[in-house]
Amino acid sequence: MMSANKEIKRITTHVLQAMKARGEKIAMLTAYDFSLARILDEAGIDIILVGDSASNVMAGHETTLPITLNQMIYHASAVVRAVKKALVVVDLPFGSYQGNSKLALESSIRIMKESGAHAVKLEGGAEVADSVKRILTAGIPVMGHLGLIPQSIYKFGTYAVRAKEEQEAEKLVADALLLEKLGCFGVVLEKIPADLAKRASEQLVIPTIGIGAGQHTDGQVLVLHDMLGLTKDFHPRFLRRYLDLFSTIQGAVQHYIEDVKNKDFPNDKEQY
Ligand code: KIV
Repeated sequence: MMSANKEIKRITTHVLQAMKARGEKIAMLTAYDFSLARILDEAGIDIILVGDSASNVMAGHETTLPITLNQMIYHASAVVRAVKKALVVVDLPFGSYQGNSKLALESSIRIMKESGAHAVKLEGGAEVADSVKRILTAGIPVMGHLGLIPQSIYKFGTYAVRAKEEQEAEKLVADALLLEKLGCFGVVLEKIPADLAKRASEQLVIPTIGIGAGQHTDGQVLVLHDMLGLTKDFHPRFLRRYLDLFSTIQGAVQHYIEDVKNKDFPNDKEQY
């Protein structure tokens, strides 16, 4: 018997490859909790990234380095419970995969088993090749991340645009091709010149997802709290703010405070 429920076609890594092949752009946003992940999924987002940017926007840290594997699993589990369609990708946090492929595999297995997510993401190219290879042996889809890689902020010393010089640009393209060859299903390109992102996107069969990487990548990603205007004092050129939720929420809270102080809330109809 046919089910009365309309079947939801899930986004898989194969669907993403097909989207690139037919020139359909991929939309990705971050989420870290059930309520917002549900809104994103019902709005039709293709990929939800449980990013380690949770370290900044959820926990208030200055960098992404302090967030732990357990905290990432907590955020990812909440997101997965909300999602019916989108592919859920989870960042491997700093210290959970670099320089140790066995640890990388163990961390990825924990993420997949304990959160129910669909894929992991890690930062770097040739330096993390062993980890990528080993995670893939367990059948866990891996997404790469090149360009500005925030977990290496103390090495770079700045959040400025990366790979403006040809030598670094060539390494980036070589790393992207290596990640593809190893079996990654996609790669995030962060804060690099648009021409370089175009060059990499044209050479790769797997999709590139850009953030501050111009219009030629196969998809785009933004940090949800930035595009909704929940964060303040962060205005990079690439960020389009779709709302100013900081002011909207602050206004609502001020209104509530006024209502309580003026004994206007609750009224007769708002009590038992
Ligand atoms: O952690 C994150 O939000 C990310 C995006 C910036 C791509 O890695």
